[in-house]
Amino acid sequence: MEYRHLGRAGIRVSALSLGSWVTFHNQVDVDAAVDSMAAAYDAGVNFFDNAEVYAGGKSEEVMGAALKKLGWRRSSYLVSTKFYWGLSEGVNEQNTLNRKRLLEAINGSLKRFDLEYVDLVFCHRPDPTTPIEETVWAMHNIIESGKAFYWGTSEWSAAEIIAAIEIAERHHLHKPVMEQPQYNMLHRKRFEIEYARLFKDYGYGSTIWSPLASGLLTGKYNKGIPEGSRATLKGMEWLRDHFTNEDALDKSRKLQAIADDIGVKFSHMALAWCLKNPNVSTVITGASRVEQVRDNMAALTVVDKLTPDVMARIDEITAAKVEEE
Ligand SMILES: NC(=O)c1ccc[n+]([C@@H]2O[C@H](COP(=O)([O-])OP(=O)(O)OC[C@H]3O[C@@H](n4cnc5c(N)ncnc54)[C@H](OP(=O)(O)O)[C@@H]3O)[C@@H](O)[C@H]2O)c1
Repeated sequence: MEYRHLGRAGIRVSALSLGSWVTFHNQVDVDAAVDSMAAAYDAGVNFFDNAEVYAGGKSEEVMGAALKKLGWRRSSYLVSTKFYWGLSEGVNEQNTLNRKRLLEAINGSLKRFDLEYVDLVFCHRPDPTTPIEETVWAMHNIIESGKAFYWGTSEWSAAEIIAAIEIAERHHLHKPVMEQPQYNMLHRKRFEIEYARLFKDYGYGSTIWSPLASGLLTGKYNKGIPEGSRATLKGMEWLRDHFTNEDALDKSRKLQAIADDIGVKFSHMALAWCLKNPNVSTVITGASRVEQVRDNMAALTVVDKLTPDVMARIDEITAAKVEEE
């Protein structure tokens, strides 16, 4: 396994990590989580991603129960959570990053995980109705309380992130140090264009999500939606458009041809392509079963096969352009 600094932060994360969105509780029970997390940990993964909202809080419970069974040294791994959507209806409890909600939310997460602290905590989306200054102070207070060690953002605009960093600097508060954006061969623009300055000027870290575009970049949707795949899950109907989008499928088939040409699995090429970007601190993989975890870990071995020539061929199909997406 390779370990990368989370931007300019001192902490290092495994280049491949494992997340629980969609899978934990819905497809993966505690025993299956134990198997998947153990397979990842044995391959050197030290970061497990989660969020308050995943499976309505059950994903944190499953991960916490799995961690208990696994009994690893707490200092040997990192766990995250994220707040924004909330778990209860209520005027101050949904779609918000207000101070009261954030300070209550961290306690709820720790209880569900049954952990004393999480390592990373993210503001899962920006909240245009709460002053950024209020959110920065609340996140600083969470870090100061010892309930989390580093905080970051997820799908915030570069301007919002820079505003948060500058507020923190002005008041000598803990700054956000990492963003959690979507990044894969089919979704490049924000990461490569909008965030370029964040990486260069601010040394921001990144924990990227959906590296396989929810499974599309394994090629398994090239001939229609397979039984038992994410697209067939209850509640994931909105993803079907994504899996049947002709433009995305056309690109996927062309990318598959490049992978075939260089003799690697398409999914390995897709993950390795994310790993090639030095601004990526960690690629958060997802898996509905342990075999996928093992398979995805092997992507590390094909990074060298993505030569400049191969990268240029991928660019011809998927390069981010200012006017697109
Ligand atoms: N911050 C955010 O807003 C945000 C949003 C989304 C995700 N995330 C984080 O990022 C993590 C990863 O995202 P993701 O789950 O969308 O990642 P992904 O790698 O794009 O998709 C994972 C899914 O693809 C399929 N798959 C994975 N490996 C495979 C393989 N080797 N062969 C065939 N199919 C395979 C599985 O689905 P099936 O087997 O069910 O088809 C698996 O659940 C999440 O768990 C979460 O922690 C964060």
